[in-house]
This record gives sequence, structure tokens and C-alpha cells, in this order.
Amino acid sequence: MSDKHLTDLSHLHFSTQCVHGGVHKDQQYNSVTTPIYPTSTFYWNSLESHSGYDYTRSGNPTRKALEESLAALEGGAGCVATSTGMSAVHCAMALFSPGDHIIAPADLYGGTFRLFERYLKEKGLRFTFVDMTSLPQVTAAFTPETRGVWIETPSNPLLKVIDIAAVTALARQHNAITLCDNTFLSPYLQRPIDFGVDIVVHSTTKYINGHSDVVGGCVVSRTPEQAKQIAWTCNALGLSCAPFDAWLVLRGLKTLSIRMDAQQASALRIARFLEQHPLIEKVYYPGLESHPQHQLAKSQQKGFGAMLAFDVRDGRPVAERVCMKTHLFDVAESLGGIESLISFPTTMSHASMTPAARAAAGITEKTVRVSVGLEHSDDLIADLQQALNQ
Ligand SMILES: Cc1ncc(COP(=O)(O)O)c(C=O)c1O
Repeated sequence: MSDKHLTDLSHLHFSTQCVHGGVHKDQQYNSVTTPIYPTSTFYWNSLESHSGYDYTRSGNPTRKALEESLAALEGGAGCVATSTGMSAVHCAMALFSPGDHIIAPADLYGGTFRLFERYLKEKGLRFTFVDMTSLPQVTAAFTPETRGVWIETPSNPLLKVIDIAAVTALARQHNAITLCDNTFLSPYLQRPIDFGVDIVVHSTTKYINGHSDVVGGCVVSRTPEQAKQIAWTCNALGLSCAPFDAWLVLRGLKTLSIRMDAQQASALRIARFLEQHPLIEKVYYPGLESHPQHQLAKSQQKGFGAMLAFDVRDGRPVAERVCMKTHLFDVAESLGGIESLISFPTTMSHASMTPAARAAAGITEKTVRVSVGLEHSDDLIADLQQALNQ
């Protein structure tokens, strides 16, 4: 490659890195976008040598471009791009062995809770779920077998903010590693590795892709040793994503910062509107001064994101009315796309939690979750207003 194109983008702004990361890979025809290599296998030049790729489960140039971009954006040493966010969580959790104890937040994505509580527990891992906004509770949860601390911040669905640096320091004192699900904010708004986290996980289905047209995930590792181990696991378990999916995520990634800027500006306006509405009991959004961890969010995040939740005053009938009577918010699982979505965690994203676990986390039949998209915030507020006022 000539010196026309930079290989190290790390001194450039985040938005520039998003646009220029993972491109200039086609030296044959000089395409300005990353080519898709939809091939399962690659031919060998001799019995001893090949192009660097031999089989797409183990490695693929399109996926590699995405992995390089995501590792750079998160400040990690390496990344694997996986088929879903859950395969990324599973891949990261394979670092642990039977008997290991892991501390996790009580309020976390329901699918992660299901994997931990119903699957990995059966395989011999042990979990303690605590309110991680309370450092004394985290401290009390350590046992001599604790090997890992799982962080999800802001949490799904109640947007609790965990002090990443403090939890990471506690984990270090106990010789445990820290893993962080950064799905809700993306590396644009939060870089957990900068606070000492070892492993960062994403559902790239959400903000990183941003267009609700692919499911994917990634695991970013802080050190080359961890990156090597994660890459080995990803290949051994067959968790990697398809070339076409990797290409879609790369395409979505290019507009990440501009989408997040617009979506979070709307989210703040909507949160303020909801906060003063008489039918709303409580709004969960870290950008509000009333949020209990507002100052912490300000100190460790570059923005407050575009997810919010609220509790309605009169319980399920009002929650149901808001969900079903809005016109611009589809009632759907998932989040982070350009279209606004509304959901009822009890029967949707958090249905896989037991009622007791939901109650412990503070998720009730009054709780509604919103993913704010790219529609104009005046239209979104008017839509919520008419649904609430019916
Ligand atoms: C915070 C979080 N982590 C992980 C996942 C799992 O991702 P996927 O649905 O891509 O498997 C989700 C999905 O909603 C999520 O919200």
C-alpha cells in the first residue's frame, strides 16, 4: 500500500475512524468500500502456504476489517465479530471454568441472565446477582472463588449506571477479571477498557449496526493474550459471524457517531417531557439531573445514550395503552436502530427472568422501555402525548 492511506487512525477523531476504519482492503480494483468475501473456504498455494485465510469460520477478510475497526474504536488489542450478541457473551464467558464464581448485576439483559442462570450454572459456574450501583454490595459478594465481574452499564432496562473504575479496581484486588457489556452506549459514548475493563462485549445488532437489519456481536479484549484466547474459543465453538453480516455492520458503523448524537439529543427531550407528565411516575434516563447516578454517568460517559425507561402511574393498562396507541414507536424487542421502538420488559426482553428476579431488579408491570430513533423529536413527543392522553 502507498502512503496515501493511513494505517494508524488512532490520532483521528472518532467519526473519522468510523468512516476510514476497515477500508482500503482491495488492492486489485481500489474499491472505496470494503469488499465482501462470501466464500466458505480459500485455496492453498501449496501444501504449506495459503493467503492467510483458510476457512471462513476461522477467518475472513470482510470480518477481519470489522474486527480491526471495533478493536481500535474500543481501544482493545483484538476483537472477534460473532453471529449475535449472545454468542459474544457466551464466547467471553468461556474464559471461566466449572467452580468459578462470577458477580453480575441484578438488572441486566434478560438473555444474559438466562445464559448465566439457566445454562452456565448447570455447567458448574456460580453467580451472585447484586445491585452494582452499591459498591458495598459488590464488595460483599466476592468469595475466594470469584474469577470475574460482569458489568452492564447503563443497564437494560432500568439504565442504572455502574462505576466502572471502582468495580474494576475491586475485581483486581480479588484477582478477578472484569467484563463489560457496552451495548447501550457503543464505544462512541463509553470506552470501558479506558477504565481498566478486560473484556468488552457488544450486541452489534444495536447501535453499532444501527439499522435493525442484522444480528451480530463482538468481543474486544484489552490484551493480546486475552484476544488470542477469545479468538481460539470463537473458532472452536463456531461463533463467528457471516461475511455479509460483517459487511452490513461495517456499513452501519460508519454513521455511528452522527446517529448517536441525534438520537441522544431526542432522548433527552423525550425524558424531560415524560418527567413532567402527570401519568408518569418515574423516568429512568441518566441524562436527567434526577437520575441517581447522573454525575457518575457524566464522568465516565461521553453522552447519555438514546435508551430510556419509565414507570406509569396506573400500572399495566396505561403501560399497554402507551405501547399500543403510539403510531411512530413499533412494539418490538431490540433497540439502537434508526426507528423508535417501545417495549414492555415484563413480557418481552426480560420475560426469561423469573418474576422474583424481575422484582429484585425493580422491573414491574408499570415499566415501559423506549429506544429513541432518528425521527424528529417533536413528532415522537406528540405521539407519546396523544397515546398517554387517550
Ligand atoms: C445489553 C444487551 N446485551 C446483549 C444482547 C444480546 O444481543 P443479540 O440479541 O444480538 O444476541 C442484547 C439484546 O437485546 C442486549 O440488549
